Amino acid sequence: MLDTATNQPVLPPEIARRRTFAIISHPDAGKTTLTEKFLLYGGAIQMAGQVRAKGEARRTRSDFMQMEKDRGISVSASAMSFDYDQFRFNLVDTPGHSDFSEDTYRTLTAVDAAVMVIDGAKGVESQTQKLFEVCRLRDLPILTFCNKMDRESRDTFEIIDEIQEMLAIDVTPAAWPIGVGRDFIGCYDMLRDRLELMDRADRNKVAESIEINGLDDPKLAEHVPEHLLDKLLEEVEMARELLPKLDPQAVLEGHMTPIWFGSAINSFGVKELMEGIGAYGPQPQVQSAEPRQIAPEEKKVAGFVFKVQANMDPKHRDRVAFVRMASGHFKRGMKLTHVRSKKPMAISNPVLFLASDRELAEEAWAGDIIGIPNHGQLRIGDTLTEGEAIRVTGIPSFAPELLQTVRAGDPMKAKHLEKALMQFAEEGAAKVFKPSIGSGFIVGVVGQLQFEVLASRIEMEYGLPVRFEASQFTSARWVSGDKAEIDKFVNANKQHIANDHDGDIVYLTRLQWDIDRVVRDYPDLKLTATKEMM
Ligand code: G4P
Repeated sequence: MLDTATNQPVLPPEIARRRTFAIISHPDAGKTTLTEKFLLYGGAIQMAGQVRAKGEARRTRSDFMQMEKDRGISVSASAMSFDYDQFRFNLVDTPGHSDFSEDTYRTLTAVDAAVMVIDGAKGVESQTQKLFEVCRLRDLPILTFCNKMDRESRDTFEIIDEIQEMLAIDVTPAAWPIGVGRDFIGCYDMLRDRLELMDRADRNKVAESIEINGLDDPKLAEHVPEHLLDKLLEEVEMARELLPKLDPQAVLEGHMTPIWFGSAINSFGVKELMEGIGAYGPQPQVQSAEPRQIAPEEKKVAGFVFKVQANMDPKHRDRVAFVRMASGHFKRGMKLTHVRSKKPMAISNPVLFLASDRELAEEAWAGDIIGIPNHGQLRIGDTLTEGEAIRVTGIPSFAPELLQTVRAGDPMKAKHLEKALMQFAEEGAAKVFKPSIGSGFIVGVVGQLQFEVLASRIEMEYGLPVRFEASQFTSARWVSGDKAEIDKFVNANKQHIANDHDGDIVYLTRLQWDIDRVVRDYPDLKLTATKEMM
């Protein structure tokens, strides 16, 4: 059944109130600050500064994090839940650095919307654009927050034009900034005819709202200094004439993004953005799967793993699989079927992430993200159901673009190294190939920095110094097809053959010419640059 007002299915209230989203941005645009303010308003933390402070504490505990700190990047993603108004928000954190985009892409399969944060002085930056393209592939609804308006920023029309042009999406102003830089006093709420005034003296104070009866209301002049008022009136009039009107359906379809202007650090515009996510960010959506889609309102529980994080606490060597609930009402202790192995799993210690604390999740609804501690059974792309053999699709695996050989500093520790590498392969942090001839492993990643993170994590989590060295290979292709044909191919190309962490056969080479030759000589074999996560 469709709700006539929103054109969305009518869902049970507990599901309908969920908003599961990620923030996409270029490093430094203000994602951490905005997250912190979300949590502050959501009551998940008491004081600004805690996300960062907890981040620091976490960093000192586990160690690749030293590198993270040095470089000022965030490589671990997690999920946070908080309530605001009648909504339950599930914010899935995405790592910011482009070398971790694999992880980010997969994270985006677990959300129903994205908040795009841009810096008002810098506009659309490279990483924002890249992430936006991924959202577009899935037609994810996007809400935009233009941050740092308390600083000198670009002209509002210019910012909007840039987004429209660079990202090919309609932009509709939900708010209009009044003044720039030092003169910035707040926004005119275009949707509700309200003035939102920023309090510069108190960074944690929520903006004062003043109801206005349209742009002719004399009350405007009482609050907006004369030198800003004329410009505001002129700009809002122009914006209403020239820019598209908010069309909630177009937002849901990913063709239009509403934009709010604010200053996260001054807590300004954040509440309006949250209300916007509540009003326009979609409720949990249908999940693509095979042999059939999963609808959130289905009574039976289904969920899928989009991320695995190992050694969150090095003392316990645990692994947490992050599961997006796709349907139903999950209760702690439920037995679910792990579809890949067809085995039942009792989910007795699921965790919810409130700010950066973990709590036992007594229940979860479609849209929620829970963490399931496990010993390696759960892998990225796995589906959990109440028995039905159904598999969530669309979780990407990326072609490794850089290959290097890895060796343990101490050759006696080869087994340890293998264990560490397998774990990272299962986490989806790298592709690991064991050549059929010779010793050592070949590791494939998407970005150079991933090698450094791996080396650092292997050393810290397994006490094993390792070296990455140039490999004689530059490309990897998964081989599939008829078994006899594969055997023939493998025997004739032993020096190019390796197995990945699942034991699947991979052809390694440095020449496109070799790949073309295989395709020609073995027409029944299929060579693919990626393997769907399953
Ligand atoms: P990120 O997660 O997207 O990388 O950005 P983050 O929130 O860490 O913000 C990057 C920098 O921008 C931080 O300054 C932060 O304080 C600042 N910032 C965030 N929002 C605003 C805003 O609305 N206005 C202004 N003027 N600055 C803002 P930093 O100096 O790098 O860190 P810190 O010393 O403040 O912690």
